[in-house]
Amino acid sequence: MTINKLVEQRFGLPTKIGNGVTSNTTLSNILARRSCRSYKPKPVPEKLIQVLFASAFSAPSKSDLQQACVIRIEDQDKQKRIADLSPHTTWITKAPLFMVWCGDSRRIRRLSEMRNHPFANDHLDAFMNAAVDAAIAMQTFIVAAESVGLGCCPVSQVRDQIKPLSVELELPRWVFPIAGLCVGWPDRETRISLRLPLQTTIHTNSYDDSELVEQVTDYDRRREAIEKTPPTQQRMVEKFGVSAAYGWSENRTRQYAIPARAGFGRYVRDQGFNLS
Ligand SMILES: Cc1cc2nc3c(=O)[nH]c(=O)nc-3n(C[C@H](O)[C@H](O)[C@H](O)COP(=O)(O)O)c2cc1C
Repeated sequence: MTINKLVEQRFGLPTKIGNGVTSNTTLSNILARRSCRSYKPKPVPEKLIQVLFASAFSAPSKSDLQQACVIRIEDQDKQKRIADLSPHTTWITKAPLFMVWCGDSRRIRRLSEMRNHPFANDHLDAFMNAAVDAAIAMQTFIVAAESVGLGCCPVSQVRDQIKPLSVELELPRWVFPIAGLCVGWPDRETRISLRLPLQTTIHTNSYDDSELVEQVTDYDRRREAIEKTPPTQQRMVEKFGVSAAYGWSENRTRQYAIPARAGFGRYVRDQGFNLS
């Protein structure tokens, strides 16, 4: 497929983007990517796993501080216990490869002690930088894995019960999970999920969301036409009823109408972070 066709498929809109741009496998893999939650019962070769981790840790890192780490789960019982932490994540158990990506501000604090320097940046930025490093490393793992045909899905639901997860992983102070990551060979073709139009997400010179409502209304219609969510699959019908129009914005605002993970800030503080 040409780059132009891949872009049209991703946004569900006719566009000239991609015309005249030479395709390569990196671009086409990224444009056609999708999360995968169902895997063949076939292991990922260890040699490949090592290359994927090496790729992940080739990601850029804030100030070269290298504040990401990953806990690879090889103990199947532990994988099941982590899956059981949320009622919607039983599929994690079937992932041939499972890991939890973490922000790690512990290492630099230990090294400050080792080099006999004060750690004078104990504020919100320390948490933010470690979280961003971990997210970029995880995404780099995903891009590498998808380039060889593996399917991946990040799982922040593993943080639904953050304390038990942290105990399970024996996380010390200043280390915190950002998301689990399931990896395996896809056992079915899944649908590409349309993205918001670039007019909504790219601002030129200054922020401008004056067209947001119109843009999202159109986007909702495009997604609805493809996804055709049956009324029985609408989110929390008992609370919100059945909506005649059930697009992305209705789905996601229903999700965020219910508090979740409200204890995360407390957990992060308990891990030693000063969030001021
Ligand atoms: C940080 C992060 C956390 C995620 N957590 C979950 C999760 O807990 N459960 C899940 O099924 N998908 C999770 N996803 C996958 C998203 O639902 C998915 O990326 C989104 O629906 C768009 O679909 P696509 O990746 O197929 O384009 C997560 C993605 C990211 C980036």
